[in-house]
Amino acid sequence: MEKDRKLIIAGNWKMNKTVAEARDLAKGLRMELANIKDIDVVVCPAFTAIGEVSKEIIESDIRLGAQNMSEQGGGAYTGEISALMLKEFIVRYVILGHSERRQFQNESDELINKKVIAAHGASMKPILCVGETLEQREAGEMENVISTQVKGCLAGLSNSQMEETIIAYEPVWAIGTGKTATSEQAQEVHAFIRAQVVDLFDEATARRVRIQYGGSVKPGNARELMGQPDVDGALVGGASLEVRSFSDIVKNCLN
Ligand code: PGA
Repeated sequence: MEKDRKLIIAGNWKMNKTVAEARDLAKGLRMELANIKDIDVVVCPAFTAIGEVSKEIIESDIRLGAQNMSEQGGGAYTGEISALMLKEFIVRYVILGHSERRQFQNESDELINKKVIAAHGASMKPILCVGETLEQREAGEMENVISTQVKGCLAGLSNSQMEETIIAYEPVWAIGTGKTATSEQAQEVHAFIRAQVVDLFDEATARRVRIQYGGSVKPGNARELMGQPDVDGALVGGASLEVRSFSDIVKNCLN
């Protein structure tokens, strides 16, 4: 499938895997996916496994991501992890504003915006998550919700920082539920998000921004989703926890 934008497929391992399990998964993925150059492949382990996973994939084309980071540069912030700490392990991407953090840690667009800016300050690429709940969709508020999140979380970025930001559209009702948005539903929202980026930045910038879809992506539905003009990758939760399913998702999306 021809696209100007390079596909980016990231595995969000969430709060899963001991260090030993994470190392095994990373090793298996390295064997399956080491030489894939046409798709950016990223794995995002828990903080505790980042060091071991980093060693395992350092010489491959698989890139490392984190699932969160502090908006602060350092100091008296008990329990937090800074961008600088992540950079020691060659972490290049960081998932920010995941709906689980918005829901369980009460992360606001304002806080997420600070994290996005801090990530760019450390030359890391944010994967900014946005998405509506089922109630919001059913109440006809989807566009309003997405637009508020996009505007709030991307405020203050330069055009070049925006180009290096990945947006992940993850309808909350599709995360971990087995209910995937149809490829048409995904395309509709991705096009809407891209239009928001045009309004906030400009046309050329918006054309370069990669927008991932997330929510019950599996080997069987990934290719069709990627076939949509504004879907430029996937953020994969459950199916990223096994070598077979994650590597099949990536391989199924190759040309
Ligand atoms: P899922 O999770 O693939 O298990 O639905 C996606 C995510 O939350 O990033």
